[in-house]
Amino acid sequence: MSGKFITFEGPEGSGKSTQIKLLVEKLEKLGIEITCTREPGGTATGEQIRNLLQHDAAGEPLCDRAELLLFTASRAQLMDRIILPTLGNGDWVLCDRFIDSTMAYQGFARGMDISTLDSINNFAIYDRKPDLTILLDLEVEAGFQRLEKRYADSAESHDRFEREAREFHHKVRDGYHTLAEREPERFVIVDADQSVEDVASNVWNAVKGALL
Ligand code: TMP
Repeated sequence: MSGKFITFEGPEGSGKSTQIKLLVEKLEKLGIEITCTREPGGTATGEQIRNLLQHDAAGEPLCDRAELLLFTASRAQLMDRIILPTLGNGDWVLCDRFIDSTMAYQGFARGMDISTLDSINNFAIYDRKPDLTILLDLEVEAGFQRLEKRYADSAESHDRFEREAREFHHKVRDGYHTLAEREPERFVIVDADQSVEDVASNVWNAVKGALL
């Protein structure tokens, strides 16, 4: 039997990686084998693409179409090498960002054509959509306040997307809401403006309700 495929989406600072870690702990207690991965990245090729995308590693501005195709190239490689084989073994996959990031960022925020993006996404994922997508929803400003705190204690600095204007990020958040309305059977929206424990318990209820 195919394993289950869960993706986490949300605006900047919405707490996806923390929540993924907590969900993994709960699922592992049930004896479920899980592979966690992320986008862009998750494979050797994908991690190199990630570096190009997030930090202008090639030293020249990326045009919108190249940006889109790099994200989806990383996705196809991840699908082929990790996600499809893992699901085929009956194990579960949790992925930090996936097709809906492309729709929200390149589609709704950058303004690229939504039906073109749908086709390119479906091509990249061999038509295997997630079984459940958890959208961690958070006000843009609240997310950026969390990011500022994180960066204050680290040597890292804002990536190319975090440096976009606030208006861009409002379009990302609104875009996510449109996507969730478009596919209510796949999405669960979780309010991320709560304690880590409360968010985790809502995530757990969503997973139990949809997949266990
Ligand atoms: P993150 O892994 O730290 O969330 O950073 C990934 C960044 O890339 C984030 O700002 C969202 C952006 N992104 C896109 O614009 N399109 C995509 O398809 C994906 C996967 C991410």
